[in-house]
Amino acid sequence: MTKRYFSFDRVQAHPQFLDIAEWPDWPNQFGNDRPLKLEIGFGNGNFVMDMAVREPDINFIAIDFYHKGIRKVITQLDRLHLPNVRLAYGDAKERIPGIFQDGELDEIYINFPDPWPKKRHHKRRLLKPAFIATLSRKLKMDGVLRIATDHENYFQEMIEFLSAEDSLENRHPGAGYVTARDDIPRTKYEKNFLNAGKPIFYMDFTKCAEVAAPHPGEPALV
Ligand SMILES: C[S@@+](CC[C@H](N)C(=O)[O-])C[C@H]1O[C@@H](n2cnc3c(N)ncnc32)[C@H](O)[C@@H]1O
Repeated sequence: MTKRYFSFDRVQAHPQFLDIAEWPDWPNQFGNDRPLKLEIGFGNGNFVMDMAVREPDINFIAIDFYHKGIRKVITQLDRLHLPNVRLAYGDAKERIPGIFQDGELDEIYINFPDPWPKKRHHKRRLLKPAFIATLSRKLKMDGVLRIATDHENYFQEMIEFLSAEDSLENRHPGAGYVTARDDIPRTKYEKNFLNAGKPIFYMDFTKCAEVAAPHPGEPALV
């Protein structure tokens, strides 16, 4: 790993890596004003790179704080010609409020967020009401939040919080989820779970209204 991938110092100097807390003027950053799609928790980056190849007219931003993954993906981005990808560094909960304007994102993908299975760790889970409100605020009208998990307890918690957010509408009324998703690439975790025969809960929510008011738990907007 150490020799094959860029050092973190080299990553930090790379033009496709952004360690930012404020809006970087995305159209200026990409050199165009094409639609923006965000992946939260990109892991080894295969999903965002596959998406960027499939949709060259879309600009992709992927955020994570996992150094090994960031080093791997920046090294690959340096070899591939994928000008429509930027990696943003940091905790999505802290960074997203400042780095995106309201209504700026076409789609948000959260693939297999850490489930923190122990009850005493549930508070560490990413998808909580305040963060869901922030994500909805950043979506444009009719934009879509797409989430996948293999973890039933986390699914139950997420679907409860997502359903309570009035600005989002579930695209799968009834069960609230679907068990297959074939229109976008599979992630590393997804492939592992599918190979192991584990069921997966895929959720899709459309932004259907403005977020009513700042959620009490939302971080201060920059
Ligand atoms: C279980 S892995 C899934 C990776 C990838 N999405 C996949 O499906 O293969 C979860 C990823 O989310 C990242 N992550 C967890 N919490 C995060 C946060 N608050 N902000 C940004 N990334 C986060 C982790 O570093 C890790 O890379």
